[in-house]
Amino acid sequence: MKIAIVPGDGIGQEVMPAALSVLDAFGLDIEKVPLEIGFCKWEKTGSAITDDDLRLIKECDCVLFGAITTPPDPNYKSVLLRIRKELDLYANIRPFKPLRNVRLPCSGEFDFVIVRENTEGMYSGVEELHKDVAYTTRIITRKGSERIAEQACRIARQRKKRLTIVHKANVLKSDSFFRDVCIGVAKKKGIEYHEMLVDAMAYDLIMHTGKYDVIVTTNLFGDILSDEAAALVGGLGLCPSANIGDKYALFEPIHGSAPDIAGKGIANPLAAILSVRMMLEWAGYNTEAKTIEKAVNSVLEDGIVTPDLRGSYSTNEVSSAITKLIRII
Ligand code: IPM
Ligand code: MG
Repeated sequence: MKIAIVPGDGIGQEVMPAALSVLDAFGLDIEKVPLEIGFCKWEKTGSAITDDDLRLIKECDCVLFGAITTPPDPNYKSVLLRIRKELDLYANIRPFKPLRNVRLPCSGEFDFVIVRENTEGMYSGVEELHKDVAYTTRIITRKGSERIAEQACRIARQRKKRLTIVHKANVLKSDSFFRDVCIGVAKKKGIEYHEMLVDAMAYDLIMHTGKYDVIVTTNLFGDILSDEAAALVGGLGLCPSANIGDKYALFEPIHGSAPDIAGKGIANPLAAILSVRMMLEWAGYNTEAKTIEKAVNSVLEDGIVTPDLRGSYSTNEVSSAITKLIRII
């Protein structure tokens, strides 16, 4: 397997070596292609990502991504959004399940996945900015809705087979279209489904977290709900994600580059390490993926955690504890 390695900016530079030390502990046959992309590159060259970078990425099977700072340029287009679009990574998959020994803001058991459409909706890029008015066109296509619903049904089938379609069809025509397409796919695939309006979903996710299994929704709603869900599992520092397409995939922690703590060596590496876990699972290394989950839960149980989890360990101390465990598990 060939992986493009993009540490990016801020704490991306710290969590990526931590994640790679965990990956290396398995001694798998993996070729790593390091790429400098992001704000650092923009400062040096005026461009955060080049066509050459994209070409190199497309020569790899997948990307392991750290975090990227958005440069203060009004014409700047997010690098991450560009990669998602160029590689057609249409499914953003974000699992949420409590980890051992992590204090949660709400009680109760839960285990759900947000399946977020990742290439269209409010992120269409079709926008106009005038002096007194601005427009963003929300684009929802049949193809885009069908393929995300199919992906969600596929995931539901491997889990509790319960799908929740989240939309705002009481207001948005584009969302009644999304809902209808999703319902059609769920019926065809024989998956039991429910629907929720996104505002009610934001409320119920806190009130009855344990009710949910697979949540499928449009781009911006998925973006917002997944940050809410990150709070439910104890923080963004714990949440991995997979951006999946038919040909490529990109794995990244949900957190950003966190300039406020960058360079201090205290960033929580677990989201990046759990992104490696998702990557290995995607690539069929299921045993290794399970080993990472076990090792992560074990260091959490031992209290080897960074300050965001009220610990006093550094990024490297956490990842070293995990790699040590992997070598003996
Ligand atoms: C995410 C982020 C991105 C998004 C930003 C950084 C463009 O918030 O991955 O959730 O909006 O999708
Ligand atoms: Mg987000």
